[in-house]
Amino acid sequence: MSVLDRRVILVTGKGGVGKTTVAASLAIEAASQGHRTLLCETQGSTRVPPLFHKKEATYDAQPLAPNLFTLTITGERAIEDYIVQQVKVRAIYKMVFKNRIMGPFVDGVPGLHDLVQLGKVFDLERDRTFGRPVWDKIIVDAPATGHGLTMLDAPRAMMELTVAGPFHEAAREVHELFVDPKKTGIVLVTLPEEMPVNETLDLHERLGSYREQVALCVLNEVHPAPFGCLDAWPDARAAMTDPALTESVQLTDKAVARAQLQQTARDRLGVLPCPIVELPIETTRRLGQTQLERLGRRLR
Ligand SMILES: Nc1ncnc2c1ncn2[C@@H]1O[C@H](COP(=O)(O)OP(=O)(O)OP(=O)(O)O)[C@@H](O)[C@H]1O
Ligand SMILES: [Mg+2]
Repeated sequence: MSVLDRRVILVTGKGGVGKTTVAASLAIEAASQGHRTLLCETQGSTRVPPLFHKKEATYDAQPLAPNLFTLTITGERAIEDYIVQQVKVRAIYKMVFKNRIMGPFVDGVPGLHDLVQLGKVFDLERDRTFGRPVWDKIIVDAPATGHGLTMLDAPRAMMELTVAGPFHEAAREVHELFVDPKKTGIVLVTLPEEMPVNETLDLHERLGSYREQVALCVLNEVHPAPFGCLDAWPDARAAMTDPALTESVQLTDKAVARAQLQQTARDRLGVLPCPIVELPIETTRRLGQTQLERLGRRLR
């Protein structure tokens, strides 16, 4: 089963490792395969539209390219959506929940912001038009490691908190989508460096019962190896005694050290029971659609 066989894909990993880049690349690839694809940012993040020369992130889906749309979910808007669904009238929501007394109470419910953001993804997965799903693929640029895990676990936590009732039922439905490995896949993004690899292995461990959903690990920003056989470098280096070669030797030393670090990262990630795909480091200063398309083809 390939990662894009799932309808919902959550992309997570340590801060700054390339989650947004990987989510956008996967979304471009899905769209190019003809899937009507929605790329969701979470926590009100607004990184995606500028990658496609669009000015603003929006809570409602906006088009980015053929078959490709994006939106950003905020906890606050998702709570409003959820409550309006229940009470049916937005004015009542504003009157009852946006006042001085109720506002802090609603915001203070533990895990509510995380739950409603996943709830929004759940609603998007359920959306139908003429009996067909509105979105073939929903790719979620999820929060970084620890928070990503808390978000994923929010429906289960809410079920424990509520025990029964309509809130419990809503949380159960959302939970069922995100624990179904046929529908939901998790993509872990990491870098070929010690700390990000530690964090990835730790996250995988902490995923517990959600581990089955891990569809792919992406080793991002991999540098090309300086040459095929790293073991040959010490002998070659010893022969390079001419002072004119000092700079070249130092540069190669650095490249070899990095290649060894990358190999250690590969070896350590080898314990994960999912495919590992390497993405090369792109040399362009700012990534745009062309680079994302290229990275997307690698992820295929
Ligand atoms: N393969 C790559 N080659 C070159 N640059 C990359 C690559 N992947 C990501 N980057 C760059 O690294 C930076 C961080 O990437 P990105 O924003 O995708 O990370 P993130 O995990 O989403 O970060 P955050 O935790 O802040 O949301 C960006 O400037 C991005 O363009
Ligand atoms: Mg990001």
